[in-house]
Amino acid sequence: MEGMKVGFHGQVRQYHQFKPAIDAAIHKVLESGVYVLGPKLEKFERDLATYCRMQEAVGVNSGTDALWLVLKALDIGPGDEVILTANTYFATAEAIWIAGSTAVFVDIEQDTLNMDTRLIERAITNRTKAIIPVHLYGQPARMREVTGVAKKHNLHVVEDCAQAVGARGNDFLLGELSDAMCTSFTPQKTLGCYGDGGAVLTNHPDLAERLRKLRNHGSDHRGFYSMGYNSRLDEIHAAVLSVKIKQLDSWIEQRRRRAGQYIAGLAGTSLKIPSTVPGFRHAYQFFVVEAEDRDGLQAYLGSMGITAFAHHPVAIHQQAGFPWGQSARISGSLERTESSAARVLSLPLYPEITDEETNHVIRTVIAWDHTRPELGTPG
Ligand SMILES: Cc1ncc(COP(=O)(O)O)c(C=O)c1O
Repeated sequence: MEGMKVGFHGQVRQYHQFKPAIDAAIHKVLESGVYVLGPKLEKFERDLATYCRMQEAVGVNSGTDALWLVLKALDIGPGDEVILTANTYFATAEAIWIAGSTAVFVDIEQDTLNMDTRLIERAITNRTKAIIPVHLYGQPARMREVTGVAKKHNLHVVEDCAQAVGARGNDFLLGELSDAMCTSFTPQKTLGCYGDGGAVLTNHPDLAERLRKLRNHGSDHRGFYSMGYNSRLDEIHAAVLSVKIKQLDSWIEQRRRRAGQYIAGLAGTSLKIPSTVPGFRHAYQFFVVEAEDRDGLQAYLGSMGITAFAHHPVAIHQQAGFPWGQSARISGSLERTESSAARVLSLPLYPEITDEETNHVIRTVIAWDHTRPELGTPG
């Protein structure tokens, strides 16, 4: 469709769809005079815990804070090692660095791009304290396998669910098998606010209590403090999120429907389309294809008015800014991580994308695929 533009996010469309309820929620907070640690946060924490079927939710300032505050609350710090993958957003490793621990990277599975759980055991040393599986792009990691190894070696498990609220496994919910799950509410997330925000969910009330103190200067009574931090989810964000969470299941269903259209439409192209583990519910925060000439595809889509991004084009261990030394080591080879970083491309996918836009993306990808030099230009 000549001249059609397809953006990467539907946030502004979504705001316009729910504008009266969102505006009213924000104005109520403004009129209440309570902006931090008030009734809106308490309500959203209950809403989120109910949605995720977890006992406790603790709102914090960001997904990054959620991760490192849990490490801190579990007493994981200098001298300890934490196992993760390098194919994730930088913040997963950053949280380990903030805690003062050592990140230990293992490779990913070729198909799902999530942690290859068969590699965990050989990465364990007598310093290992925890594993952080990331449910990348919205697809659950193999939690039964992760927690099986963790139990055997007495390790903590902290789930990075920043991209995956609303996903679930075949016989497990996110969060229920581990110490805690951490999530993020940045605007582009399936459940996003209008700034930074995050939360920890846990079925361990003692951990939730420690986190509530840690996020608020170590205080659980006004005027009494122990050492902590300032990391609270503001009332305005909490109020907006309580409005939005009511739509979350229908948004995820729409994402899954659009993903189904892409999968059907792109079958037969040279692209690797996302594989899902049978029985797992992928929440499709991102629809990530792999292309031999990723940059060529991205540029072609751009020239046709379609915005696509690579998540994450440079693996964490290849980032120039990553501090090595005590901060990280690699277990085995990260060959699959490196190859996927060079190939991944996220196509536009959000609940508000239209049929016309989805079809335009599919047609454009197919047109690019037909003109690839190695296939020859069709007559
Ligand atoms: C996998 C993953 N982990 C952690 C984070 C960090 O969340 P935040 O940006 O809210 O700090 C993100 C954010 O995009 C993420 O995608």
